[in-house]
Amino acid sequence: MAMNDNRGRNSLNRLTKGVSWSAGLWVLAALSLGALAISCATSTKRTAVAPPEIPGATFVGSQTCAQCHEKITRDFSSATHARLKAEGPNAVNIGCESCHGAGSLHNESGGARHTIVNPGKTPEACFQCHLDMKSRFNLPYHHPVPEGKLSCGDCHNPHKGPAIIGGGTSLMAQNDTCRRCHTAQRGPFVFEHEAVREGCLSCHEPHGSISQKLLIERNATLCLKCHFQQQTTPGQITIGNVVHTSFLSRGTCWSAGCHEAVHGSQVNASLRF
Ligand code: HEC
Ligand code: HEC
Ligand code: HEC
Ligand code: HEC
Ligand code: HEC
Ligand code: HEC
Ligand code: HEC
Repeated sequence: MAMNDNRGRNSLNRLTKGVSWSAGLWVLAALSLGALAISCATSTKRTAVAPPEIPGATFVGSQTCAQCHEKITRDFSSATHARLKAEGPNAVNIGCESCHGAGSLHNESGGARHTIVNPGKTPEACFQCHLDMKSRFNLPYHHPVPEGKLSCGDCHNPHKGPAIIGGGTSLMAQNDTCRRCHTAQRGPFVFEHEAVREGCLSCHEPHGSISQKLLIERNATLCLKCHFQQQTTPGQITIGNVVHTSFLSRGTCWSAGCHEAVHGSQVNASLRF
């Protein structure tokens, strides 16, 4: 608990000034989170930890938010995280407050600044439950979420529908999410790389990676995942029916004048610039 509090206090003070994560409400939080942990356990192995704590504030339930945030509250029933509502006889409904912290002061003040946590400004509220993500964003190459240049909410829907945009149902929707910011990968290209149709995630890890450019593999392995070819002549490496034996020692497949236009090319079917 103590460690948790310190971490929260440091990071949230930086971002929301008046709001800090104190241990003050632990009793109440424990009561509601006991139930929360149980209801989560039915659908996942992740452990729910404490929601952001706001000194002096108590939990008031999602319905009170509807007075002023009507649309968000109405849509919320379709959200992945709506399943996290605490259930059981002693439970408080803390749907909104699991990410935003206890809402009584915010409500009473009519929405005064610094009375509520906005996870769009700090990922700490998300890390409380998604601890594994905290370590991914600590890897040497990561989307600059901890640096505040973008937020989890740029790629995830906290309030409506599947939290993962596209939700596995539509690859294009997922690619469009990426292309909104990465316009150079948008095309259209005269020579497309079909791999991109299979999704940006066939080569990139969206959160953090040990490899440059968020790649899931740092070398030819990345490409050979799909371009594997049965080798027939000993000592000779053939890829795409072209002998590559001497090429492979010169660098990665996408360097040194080779397939540098890996996302698609305007001039060359072999993905060159
Ligand atoms: C009495 C009206 C009222 C109620 C009830 C209310 N809010 Fe707000 N809320 C506001 C207003 C007004 C703002 C805009 C403040 C601003 O723009 O700076 C706001 C802003 C916010 C923000 C953004 C804060 C920021 O720093 O960017 C969040 C998050 C939020 N509310 C969540 C909630 C949640 C969760 C509840 C229910 C527990 C809730 N609100 C209940 C009026 C209310
Ligand atoms: C899974 C965590 C999570 C839950 C649960 C959640 N929110 Fe949010 N909320 C966020 C994030 C993330 C943002 C910032 C969105 C962004 O930056 O685009 C946000 C932003 C807000 C804002 C600021 C206005 C805006 O759209 O940026 C309000 C108001 C708000 N939430 C209200 C609510 C209410 C009301 C509920 C419950 C019905 C709720 N939230 C449930 C994560 C959550
Ligand atoms: C109170 C704990 C809690 C908080 C806070 C929380 N999450 Fe979650 N989140 C969960 C749980 C539990 C699941 C698994 C739900 C399931 O699989 O049904 C989940 C699932 C997800 C998923 C995967 C959804 C899917 O369809 O597989 C994403 C993405 C996600 N959360 C993002 C976020 C983001 C972004 C925030 C902060 C704005 C956040 N979460 C805050 C507990 C939390
Ligand atoms: C650049 C876009 C992007 C950002 C920023 C981002 N995510 Fe994700 N996240 C994704 C994508 C895309 C997936 C789907 C991964 C898949 O289908 O394999 C995902 C999946 C997830 C999942 C569920 C699957 C898993 O890998 O465990 C969770 C939980 C999650 N993200 C949490 C977060 C949190 C918390 C943050 C902020 C700290 C965040 N994400 C920021 C793009 C992003
Ligand atoms: C809200 C904007 C935004 C979205 C959406 C977004 N990114 Fe990014 N991305 C960034 C920023 C900002 C950087 C850091 C750029 C820098 O540091 O120069 C970055 C960096 C990257 C890098 C590393 C670039 C480099 O030169 O090292 C890759 C690869 C990448 N993103 C892929 C993706 C993928 C794949 C998705 C979709 C899952 C995605 N991005 C969604 C903003 C975004
Ligand atoms: C076939 C694998 C593959 C796919 C699919 C892929 N990328 Fe990449 N991406 C790479 C490689 C390899 C690099 C490194 C290029 C370099 O270092 O010159 C890269 C680099 C990047 C960069 C850094 C800028 C640059 O060009 O060096 C961004 C941003 C990026 N990719 C975004 C995306 C987006 C967005 C998608 C989906 C629309 C996507 N990528 C799909 C392999 C891929
Ligand atoms: C997700 C699977 C996948 C990955 C990963 C992948 N490719 Fe492809 N690539 C394809 C498909 C499918 C085609 C079109 C069919 C074909 O030509 O084999 C293609 C076509 C190509 C072509 C055009 C061949 C021609 O002359 O018409 C080149 C060059 C190429 N890929 C290079 C790469 C490189 C370099 C990488 C690694 C950065 C890579 N590919 C990773 C699936 C993939």
